[in-house]
Amino acid sequence: MTPPDQGLPSSPVTAELALPIDDLALADRLRARLESVESALFEHASSRAPFVTEAARHLLAAGGKRFRPLLVLLAAETGPHPEDPAVEAAACVVEITHVGSLYHDDVMDEAALRRGEDSANARWDNLVAILTGDFLFAKSSELTAQLGPEAVRIQAETFTRLVEGQILETVEPGPDEDALEHYLEVVAGKTGSLIATSAHYGALFAGAEPDVVAALTQYGELVGTAFQLSDDILDIASETEESGKTPGTDLKEGVPTLPVLIARASTDPADARLLELLDPQRTDLAADADAHAEALTLLRAHPAMEQARTYVVARAEEAKKLLVALPEGSVRSALDAFADVVAVRSA
Ligand code: IPE
Ligand code: IPE
Ligand code: MG
Ligand code: MG
Repeated sequence: MTPPDQGLPSSPVTAELALPIDDLALADRLRARLESVESALFEHASSRAPFVTEAARHLLAAGGKRFRPLLVLLAAETGPHPEDPAVEAAACVVEITHVGSLYHDDVMDEAALRRGEDSANARWDNLVAILTGDFLFAKSSELTAQLGPEAVRIQAETFTRLVEGQILETVEPGPDEDALEHYLEVVAGKTGSLIATSAHYGALFAGAEPDVVAALTQYGELVGTAFQLSDDILDIASETEESGKTPGTDLKEGVPTLPVLIARASTDPADARLLELLDPQRTDLAADADAHAEALTLLRAHPAMEQARTYVVARAEEAKKLLVALPEGSVRSALDAFADVVAVRSA
């Protein structure tokens, strides 16, 4: 039995859609379903022990865009029974998996701020953050088991890819491996995998045709890649904590992202100072605030930023092309808009 929730973080009242949808009936339906997912998320993040519930709900209550559940619900609109309860359960599975990965990610990135609040590692410590992430992964597994063996298989493969991506981020590319290819593999694993599964689950559980399920899964993979690349650009470009995170974290943690990899390939003598600061052997940017600030300033003004943005928009365009497998209409337009929002997002 779960104890009453008094004093514990609870669900916000309204769900806002993170994308423009012209079809008002579709927008209303999605909003209502997101609200129902929202309360279910808080129910799932419950434990017999009040402290575990408090820790597990900490980041849920802090907010977040709920992009993954929204994608599940939107993809489900391509099938004959989008209202199937399995669709909402799948929306919870992907968000709980995502949130669990954020608890762990903030430990590995030594991040103090998440969703505008103290990260769990800052508020408590690494141990609490890691075990809370584990607790959420266990909860998402429990829920996935209710969706049947196909969902369990998909979830297990997704989780393998996500964790592999996070681990590969911590190692240098092999001697024969291209740094950009290594980075793109990391991105596809740590972020593309779960966003692909969000689209996959939605279409699958709503009973969409196999070709639509396949197209949406591939769409999700590309949108997910674009999503992470945009996030990496924002980490450099943002001068405020609008994203609810601390900008400049990737550079501080020595995670080379797309703008850095593009800038490193420069042969322009004017870039000598930037290249010195971005040297892969250099490990002092975490401790040297002046060098870190200088690297950020030079990078923000560098053409590599625009090239990286162009690359992201191209991935989103590729994703949109896959939508030809869907009938024309408001659901397809919303998925089209979803890819655009991801590519040019500002938070
Ligand atoms: C953050 O994901 C981690 C990445 C994969 C970039 P989101 O940008 O979806 O974070 P929330 O859920 O809105 O906080
Ligand atoms: C997050 O990657 C990926 C996962 C949580 C699996 P990042 O470390 O790049 O994301 P942020 O910037 O902290 O959200
Ligand atoms: Mg991080
Ligand atoms: Mg990280």
